[in-house]
Amino acid sequence: MRFVLPKGRLLRGSLEILRKAGYNIDKPGERKLIGRFNGNEVLLARAFDVPVYVEHGVDVGIAGSDVLEERGSDVFVPLELPFGKCRLSLAMPAESVVPLEDMDGYRIATKYERIARSYFSKLGVEVEIIKLSGSVELAPKVGVADAIVDIVETGETLRANGLVEVEKIMDVSAQLLVNRISQKTKFDEINTLILAIKEVVGDGT
Ligand code: PRP
Repeated sequence: MRFVLPKGRLLRGSLEILRKAGYNIDKPGERKLIGRFNGNEVLLARAFDVPVYVEHGVDVGIAGSDVLEERGSDVFVPLELPFGKCRLSLAMPAESVVPLEDMDGYRIATKYERIARSYFSKLGVEVEIIKLSGSVELAPKVGVADAIVDIVETGETLRANGLVEVEKIMDVSAQLLVNRISQKTKFDEINTLILAIKEVVGDGT
């Protein structure tokens, strides 16, 4: 089988849960993006690209529900995993918090363009989305945006940048993703993996 794992904050939890399930994958080197174990192959990709790799042919991946929602990838999600818990929230500078309905014309900096757009359109509030690739907390500081939509885990990054969480948009957790074709053509291998992970997370159903 071919696995794709996210570089960054979910990598450690991903390797740990797979190891406990009997898939003892060495962490590939920082620059080496493909490793092998027991005849399987492991790719390391940017977190936002994991759902794309799985949709387009990699058998199995681990990604946050935030990036899966943002990418809108057509993959099978058999399991939620017990790590990577955080939330995607709207945050504003502490000194200029306004009610959501007063945000017409606001500029929102985010990596989550699609989620942010759909959130504000459901509220009927017209905003300008400014798509950034990371460290979005900087944007309100320098007057590039009025608010952000971003991941909050401990809240430390918001506090350090004078921002406050105004609304939670969604809860986030790591998920196991399976390619829809592999799910049929490699049914036994994938089913074995899912059952082994279920055993680890204590969900014997
Ligand atoms: C994420 C997120 C926040 C921070 C939140 O950033 O974008 O910046 O973590 O965590 P906290 O509430 O515990 O402070 P990440 O490290 O993934 O990097 P990025 O913003 O550059 O993508």
